[in-house]
Amino acid sequence: MTGGAGFIGSNFVHAVRREGRVPVVTFDLLTYAGNLANLDSLKNDPGHLLVHGDIRDRKAVRDLFATVQPTGLFHFAAESHVDRSIENPAEFIDTNVTGTFILLDEALRYVKGAGRDRPFRFLHVSTDEVYGSLGEDDPPFTEKTPYAPNSPYAASKAASDHLVRAYFHTYGLPVVTTNCSNNYGPWQFPEKLIPTVILSALEERPIPLYGDGRNIRDWIFAPDHCEGVRRVFERGRAGETYAIGAHNPRSNREVIARITHILDRLSPRKSGSYAELVASVPDRPGHDRRYEIDAAKIRSELGWRPSHSFEEALELTVRWYLENRPWWRSLRGRYDGTRQGVGRQEKGGRA
Ligand SMILES: NC(=O)c1ccc[n+]([C@@H]2O[C@H](COP(=O)([O-])OP(=O)(O)OC[C@H]3O[C@@H](n4cnc5c(N)ncnc54)[C@H](O)[C@@H]3O)[C@@H](O)[C@H]2O)c1
Repeated sequence: MTGGAGFIGSNFVHAVRREGRVPVVTFDLLTYAGNLANLDSLKNDPGHLLVHGDIRDRKAVRDLFATVQPTGLFHFAAESHVDRSIENPAEFIDTNVTGTFILLDEALRYVKGAGRDRPFRFLHVSTDEVYGSLGEDDPPFTEKTPYAPNSPYAASKAASDHLVRAYFHTYGLPVVTTNCSNNYGPWQFPEKLIPTVILSALEERPIPLYGDGRNIRDWIFAPDHCEGVRRVFERGRAGETYAIGAHNPRSNREVIARITHILDRLSPRKSGSYAELVASVPDRPGHDRRYEIDAAKIRSELGWRPSHSFEEALELTVRWYLENRPWWRSLRGRYDGTRQGVGRQEKGGRA
């Protein structure tokens, strides 16, 4: 897998190794978002190997295929933060488009290289942001929704999805793609909404709320997303895409209110509620209004369903951040704690 030291990737590798059936090789550049500490508990696991490398480095990718001889590739690696893509789009095109292209091209070389096709699948992890923004009364996104990406991040993911599709149609590379909604859970980098709210509250800083707070995201617990990814890899039809979502559309304002409410109960302030720390900040340029996923296809074709309710999993997440303070404190300096989004980025930095 690529990107296994990031947020969703580490949830994925932990879930797979907990079962212990399949060995995993994690190929990761350890950018500001990749963190060795996410994989700490796998240090002595003989079924897991971490390789430090760049998906844009063709030789490194080729050597990896030759050495590992994988039966599948789970492609999670990406530049993933919309605000950063607005400030530095070039990095997103490079990693998400060129990097995915190199992986596809080398996967094809590997599959065809043995003289006969090897058993292999390429699972591409993508996002619902490729579909653009919904109006208040629009039906949720499905696999048939036309692509209409609005941010450089979404456009770079859309481009990578198109390349994946083309490698199936043109060369017959066995691919499957997942387009998932917003994730939350353990190991999420502090610049994203949910950790930003939890950590701002715990550090008694203003909790930033973009614009009017009415932007709606459809939230899914990362372990449920990972389970969906595995289901698609194992049973999805080659060349198909599957939208993954847990049907929890919530406005940012609602999410923040629920988190402050949980924190008031689990770790009360000396006086007052954490809700008093919420402060409006200027909106993100081109901020998509509403995302929502209709996951009927993966439910009916593959029998996948999320295992956690939003309320239950949000509380698990808050508890995880309360219990893992050294993890997030060690990331100080890699992000700007005063707002959601871009801050002091240490290129290539790691824990
Ligand atoms: N976070 C979400 O809500 C969400 C929702 C839907 C889809 N996705 C997709 O899921 C995937 C994982 O997202 P995430 O939130 O875990 O991201 P993340 O930013 O937390 O992690 C990305 C990982 O990729 C690695 N990486 C970056 N560039 C690399 C390169 N050139 N070579 C090798 N490794 C590199 C980083 O070091 C990091 O470990 C992404 O493809 C993203 O587009 C994310």
